[in-house]
Amino acid sequence: MYRETPHPIHLKDYRPPEFLIDRVELRFELDPECTRVESRLALRRNPAATRGDGDLRLHGEHLKLTQAAIDGHVLTPAEYRVDGEGLTLHRVPDRFSLETWVEIHPSLNTALEGLYQSGDLLCTQCEAEGFRRITYFLDRPDVMARYTTTLIADRTRFPVLLSNGNPIAHAELPDGRHSVTWDDPFPKPSYLFALVAGDLSVIEDGFVTASGRDVKLRIFVEPHNLDKGDHAMRSLKKAMRWDEERFGREYDLDIYMIVAVSHFNMGAMENKGLNVFNDKFVLAHPDTATDVDFDGIESVIAHEYFHNWTGNRITCRDWFQLSLKEGFTVYRDQEFSSDVGSRAVKRIRDVRTLRAHQFPEDAGPLAHPVRPDSYIEINNFYTNTVYDKGAEVVRMQAALLGPETFRRATDLYFERHDGQAVTTEDFVRCMEDASGRDLTRFRRWYEQAGTPELHIRGEYDATAGTYSLSVRQQTPATPGQPVKQPFHIPLAIGLLGADGHDLPVWPAGESEPPAPGTRLLELTEPEHSFTFTGLNERPVPSLLRGFSAPVRVHDDLSDADRMFLMAHDSDGFNRWDAAQTLHERLLLALTADAAHPIPEDYIAACRRALRDTTADRALLAEVLTLPSETYLSDQMTVIDVDGLYRAHRQLTRRLGERLRADLLAVHHDNAETGPYVFSPEAVGRRALKNLALAYLVRAGDEEGLALCRAQFEAAHNMTDVMAALRLLAEQGGAEADAALDTFHRRWAGESLVLDKWFSVQASAPRPDALERVMMLLKHPDYSARNPNRVRALVSTFSNVNQVRFHAADGAGYHFLVDRVLELDPVNPLLAARLLKPLVRWRRFDPERQTLMRAELERVLGGRDLSSDVFEVVSKALA
Ligand code: ARG
Ligand code: ZN
Repeated sequence: MYRETPHPIHLKDYRPPEFLIDRVELRFELDPECTRVESRLALRRNPAATRGDGDLRLHGEHLKLTQAAIDGHVLTPAEYRVDGEGLTLHRVPDRFSLETWVEIHPSLNTALEGLYQSGDLLCTQCEAEGFRRITYFLDRPDVMARYTTTLIADRTRFPVLLSNGNPIAHAELPDGRHSVTWDDPFPKPSYLFALVAGDLSVIEDGFVTASGRDVKLRIFVEPHNLDKGDHAMRSLKKAMRWDEERFGREYDLDIYMIVAVSHFNMGAMENKGLNVFNDKFVLAHPDTATDVDFDGIESVIAHEYFHNWTGNRITCRDWFQLSLKEGFTVYRDQEFSSDVGSRAVKRIRDVRTLRAHQFPEDAGPLAHPVRPDSYIEINNFYTNTVYDKGAEVVRMQAALLGPETFRRATDLYFERHDGQAVTTEDFVRCMEDASGRDLTRFRRWYEQAGTPELHIRGEYDATAGTYSLSVRQQTPATPGQPVKQPFHIPLAIGLLGADGHDLPVWPAGESEPPAPGTRLLELTEPEHSFTFTGLNERPVPSLLRGFSAPVRVHDDLSDADRMFLMAHDSDGFNRWDAAQTLHERLLLALTADAAHPIPEDYIAACRRALRDTTADRALLAEVLTLPSETYLSDQMTVIDVDGLYRAHRQLTRRLGERLRADLLAVHHDNAETGPYVFSPEAVGRRALKNLALAYLVRAGDEEGLALCRAQFEAAHNMTDVMAALRLLAEQGGAEADAALDTFHRRWAGESLVLDKWFSVQASAPRPDALERVMMLLKHPDYSARNPNRVRALVSTFSNVNQVRFHAADGAGYHFLVDRVLELDPVNPLLAARLLKPLVRWRRFDPERQTLMRAELERVLGGRDLSSDVFEVVSKALA
């Protein structure tokens, strides 16, 4: 909690640490009410740092210091000073041992940073700055040390005691306690420290690395979840193999552990050798988890595993470099999912996320570069920009270098920087050194915020047989960056002939035509013009194939061109994107004018797609999914909440009516036959079937509704059950309530399933949605202490249920701010995240702007705001 205005931290002020820590010995006497932490640090002056005033300042928050000693001599109060930020030791030697004894209170730790209690477990979350809530330390990522950790606790309550590295000793103690000592041979920053204590069951397996080393794999869960860990284990082994094959990276310890906990602020955490996970990303059983859950688990398990190299072996010098590990690791998990599933579908989903969340962030008051240059609270910078745009920035470098050179560049990065804390600049330099390319302009992707806009015009010259593309780039201003320099943009294009096949993309001036297919153009200037030759027909251009850069494209294609691309483009992503643009243009036209005609050829194109039995069903489901209201709202100058909702319903209903017979056939032909399997094929089948069901039910089709009821009652997997329940809940009335009751009774003991029960009600756009959400706040199963539950109810309502959250009377806004103010003293990280939908207030009509702004001001008027919430609100209002 801050009292005065919190001050921003700037990248330009970075200084190397004045002291280094080589060894850390920790001893925990664990107890939920009061845990004692004894620490012995081997400190020395950093030869690479400029000498300061001779004092040593260690970070520490919410700690009760009972004693401190230097080289065995207990300090008197005159020799140190403790304040809200830490411990200052006056005039210390150049090399010494520091011992401290502190007390902390895990059961009172509701912020879930540092050591906290989750149910009957004790666990930690130290990234970014949680270690300072455990003991006094130089809690910054460029201080890397070797840790030995002894955990002491009651044997019955805490039979399992885990920390980083390998277990080296255990002992039974006389008073019913026991102790385990762990040693981590790899130097690490404090944010990768972890411990877990509790009564846990374990799923065990093994993995033999490429070089023949045996690794024990252990997934720890609460005993009643023992049947839900197999998918996570399979995913882990797949990820380990993939990283060896694709990036040449092997695991380096004898044991790899994952613990599932039910109270967790984020997705998961890559602590060295001991990942701690939000249980939502570990636990899966076909009865309780949907395909989306299975998918999420596979990618988060992989993500945290990949961090072992991109994050742990090579870490960040400071938190401005967060994307060094997160952007690269997201890129790696995306590639993994593409390789084990469908590349086009994975790309579509990632781009959907980027456009729905990162683009608005980049266009709003919280816009920041992939490598930010200042922050107030680092927890606010675990953003779509740092993660997802950061991954795009790595992806573009991979595209510019080509696969073999990119692999040489990452090999160089791993070799050159192993064991170091480095910067995004070090990463780019490896790309340059391995390729011989100059990426000076490319670096702007790390430095400049904002989404570039490409304006592309094509012209065919029949006499010369040439086709010219003129491309102009322009990037809107963002806070603090009024003028943008041009970006280095890889633009992948294809040219389609009248028969739908790829033509050679043959630049005038090159002597030989290339093989037909995709060509990568590079933009570095504000404007370019490209001429292609050898064309005796007007081609249809396929632009930005595979979404080769995170930009917005404005082109001059006709709807007919898009329908052509939708049917023929060899690039699966662009087939989808052409369909999306068609849906989008129509939805925006309907938003402006409900009487706008829905063209027959558009319906025909959708029908053709639906009837295409040769295509990947998952891809078809994506093609026929309309863009979300959230995404569409970002395409409007002034967001028309009600108009968008109406247009969305109108088009959905029309498609449901017009395609009725085909939809019924699709639902029938893709019915579940055997037991649940999680395979790309089966997932695609369920996705298409449930999309068909949704169109039918939303069109008010009686047969569709009957199928939906039957599916809810008979389905043997949660994917199909949830798809039906969602539609029933949307319909409302007694039948919906009965279904919700049945579901609640059936799953009363399953916390992750109850989250679904909350979120399905929060997202249903019924007129009484807010009332229902408010009632659910009082439900005995609701708890503001569990972030998953808060997200399921509050974030789902405010992020997904656009039309009800943005109700014209402002009740949705008022509700959200009540929750933020209530939650801020409990869990500031979560409270700050809840505010996100209000940050875009300037995009709405004047009446809503006034209401949203007033609510943001109400937050700012709150007493003792956290720095997390303060930063978001003050920037939103600036
Ligand atoms: N490094 C984690 C990941 O893999 C995220 C942890 C962030 N936690 C936090 N409290 N800011 O994505
Ligand atoms: Zn990560």
